[in-house]
Amino acid sequence: MRCLSLKSLSLALIFALVAVSPWRAQAASPEPIKAEHGMVVTAQHLASDIGVEVLKRGGNAVDAAVAVGYALAVVYPIAGNIGGGGFMTIRFKDGKTTFLDFRERAPLAATKSMYLDDKGDLVKGLSTNGYLAVGVPGPVMGFEHARSRYGTRPLEELIAPAIKLAKEGFVLEQGDVDSFDGKTERLAKDPAAAAIFLKPDGKPFAVGEKLIQADLAASLSSISEKGPDAFYKGAIADAIVKASAEKGGILAKKDFEQYAVRELEPVKCNYRGYDIVSSPPPSSGGVIICEILNILEGYPLSYLGYGSAETVHAMIEAMRHAYVDRNTALGDPDFVENPVSKLVDKAYAKEIREKIEPFRAGVSQALMPAGFAESKETTHYSIIDDEGNAVAVTYTLNGSFGAGVVAPGTGILLNNEMDDFTAKPGAPNLYGLVQGEANAIAPGKTPLSSMSPTIISKDGRPFMVIGSPGGARIITITLEAIINVIDHGMNIQEAVDAPRLHHQWLPDKVFMEPYALSPDTRKLLAAMGHDVEIDENWMIWGQATGILVGGENLTEIEAGGGARYNGAVDSRIGAGAARGY
Ligand code: GLY
Repeated sequence: MRCLSLKSLSLALIFALVAVSPWRAQAASPEPIKAEHGMVVTAQHLASDIGVEVLKRGGNAVDAAVAVGYALAVVYPIAGNIGGGGFMTIRFKDGKTTFLDFRERAPLAATKSMYLDDKGDLVKGLSTNGYLAVGVPGPVMGFEHARSRYGTRPLEELIAPAIKLAKEGFVLEQGDVDSFDGKTERLAKDPAAAAIFLKPDGKPFAVGEKLIQADLAASLSSISEKGPDAFYKGAIADAIVKASAEKGGILAKKDFEQYAVRELEPVKCNYRGYDIVSSPPPSSGGVIICEILNILEGYPLSYLGYGSAETVHAMIEAMRHAYVDRNTALGDPDFVENPVSKLVDKAYAKEIREKIEPFRAGVSQALMPAGFAESKETTHYSIIDDEGNAVAVTYTLNGSFGAGVVAPGTGILLNNEMDDFTAKPGAPNLYGLVQGEANAIAPGKTPLSSMSPTIISKDGRPFMVIGSPGGARIITITLEAIINVIDHGMNIQEAVDAPRLHHQWLPDKVFMEPYALSPDTRKLLAAMGHDVEIDENWMIWGQATGILVGGENLTEIEAGGGARYNGAVDSRIGAGAARGY
């Protein structure tokens, strides 16, 4: 094995080399979409069109985010929703930032051991299927909080396009139909879900057919007329509570009545001169992205090169250490003390770097804290308006189509977010995450998330809006898009398309997308002790959507004269689109 020895070169020399000859990857990706006044990038093209229309009519990025949130609930039912939960990161034109937490809360009747049998073993499927898996949904309250504080348009105007699409239906394209692939059996189990998302003969919809959602149109119309009370205090809450009671759930009217959005300080850090603003707990996303970036800042990634064994080794080890913290130390801030300032401290990153051996894989088991026993879908959209207000939203039903249930008469798919809690310390969840007590179930508590809606600025100006679905991989997908742009010089489309790697401490494996690493690189990594496995399930690798400001890549931005807004929808998404004007 012949690797560049870091010891053989002084860091000063390495950084000097980086400055004069950065390694530039050239991926085979389409060109980013370019625009001068506004950009909306979502996982479904009709939702992107709706967002851009709001911007063109003078609405701001928050208005567009609300309209897109409702539209995706109609045209992207696999993950877009009003029956789940999410986060919104906002960077205003004056540089101020805020973060809205409208994620699910555990029902008041929830208990720590609700998914265990009397022997203390996990009951398979209880936290993922049916009404017991459902957390109290937040998007309707979250969107209204955003709109009433930071938007400029009335709710009726922003929700109207979604109502029209639900009532009149929309024609399914290949990308839409693909998102229903393999879900027929699950949807068929719930008569109300089957009546909407399957044809009368029980078969899935085909390309060219129309998906009409009359009940959802009626629910959205009542929200349009009465605001969030229609959802949290009226007939919608009643219908969900009734269905839950009939089918083994524990949701109560009080859960809905007392739902509240939290407006929180985002997590902030600086990576090589770029200011990162991302999600704080109850998400682990922003904290862990910052922790990994802080660790990686000590390595000359640009010089070492995209996909080189040394770059990958540094990334894996940074991920391994940071995911220990993710899975053991973080939880809902109203219930646990989160050591955020320690985890995002550069001195802590240095301590971790000192434990990372240059050419030897770490051992996850050795990082087990004392006392700790051992597609899936979400969606992200990125928006920026003519004034420079930027919004990043990631919201989710957790698994594809959530718990796979719709309360009769509502048309609203409900989440299975309760699975994001630690159902049993040491037992892996849907995403294979092995988590601890900080994320134990408690009444009214929010499960720890990985969602990472992120906005980056440089010298006081917006630079990048980014985020992704992908369960536990949301963090590494978002992180990799960031370093692909900042360290590897990729344009925004290449950055979201580039093949990915993931390590989450446990299981102690490096997951890679097909073609992410050459056979030679895999051999070098294996010699260091890394267990690398190809994971071909594209659904769990998430589909990022991003915007870069001032050019399509760093070279263009630094030279000046690039398009103002450069949008990219991940090529892994069939139905998505970046739209600008
Ligand atoms: N349900 C995925 C997440 O919030 O991380």
